[in-house]
Amino acid sequence: MYTQLQLRDSDRPPVTLSTLARMKADGEKIACLTGYDASFAVLLDAAEVDVVLVGDSLGMVIQGHDTTVPVTMDDMVYHCRAVARGLYRPFLIADLPFMSYPSKEQALANSVRLLQEGGAEMVKLESGGNQIEIVEFLAGHDIAVCAHLGLKPQSVHKTGGFRVQGREESAAERMIADARRLESAGADIVLLECIPAVLGKTITAELHVPVIGIGAGPGTDGQILVCYDILDITTGRKPRFVRNFLDGAGNNLQAFKNYVQAVKQGEYPAPEHCF
Ligand code: KIV
Repeated sequence: MYTQLQLRDSDRPPVTLSTLARMKADGEKIACLTGYDASFAVLLDAAEVDVVLVGDSLGMVIQGHDTTVPVTMDDMVYHCRAVARGLYRPFLIADLPFMSYPSKEQALANSVRLLQEGGAEMVKLESGGNQIEIVEFLAGHDIAVCAHLGLKPQSVHKTGGFRVQGREESAAERMIADARRLESAGADIVLLECIPAVLGKTITAELHVPVIGIGAGPGTDGQILVCYDILDITTGRKPRFVRNFLDGAGNNLQAFKNYVQAVKQGEYPAPEHCF
């Protein structure tokens, strides 16, 4: 089934953190999507997606839970390993799931699992003021870290729902300060979810590291969406920032290619996808 993987082009250098830094410096938008299995990974690679995230959103779109909270480390390793088998060029990030990083030591042990067993190149954690030390500890052990700010789905039971974050001035200022502190602690990428477009632009301009947005407006260095959302597989109410890229594409590969092109050309997100 995956014999085409043996035939992958050797003239497509894999995306690394240096590639992403260069893209930020050059103003080239970074196109990212989630992926959960090898078959989709092959398509994401063929569509020239720059970064693939094995998100704990798999708890919702694959496992059918209402939140990401039930996702375990074993789930993440299983899906990450499958995605890694299908990827060659894109940079591979994997989520540390709920309560897999309550201490520095547990964060390190679980990050090592994602890198060694899962084949990930970077771990992502839902961060804020409380995770600065953890990010610093991981970075101090040469683990590449993506810090996720804004709407943090793992905290949904504490925050009371999936809501836009950073609307009030004090919350926006706190987020800007957290982003700066996370960068200083060693975060290599910052991901912003569901925040006002103006705040996404401000944080992106403040940071030296690449900033990827989902529902954070067009001013970030790159965009990410859940692959099932853009293929219109996800049922029920969709977030405002989702666009159906299967519409008019004919097949999944073309839909992914259309997404990459729309991100690179700055056509996505449009004003109707922003807060
Ligand atoms: O879990 C996930 O898929 C994510 C994205 C929504 C960014 O964190």
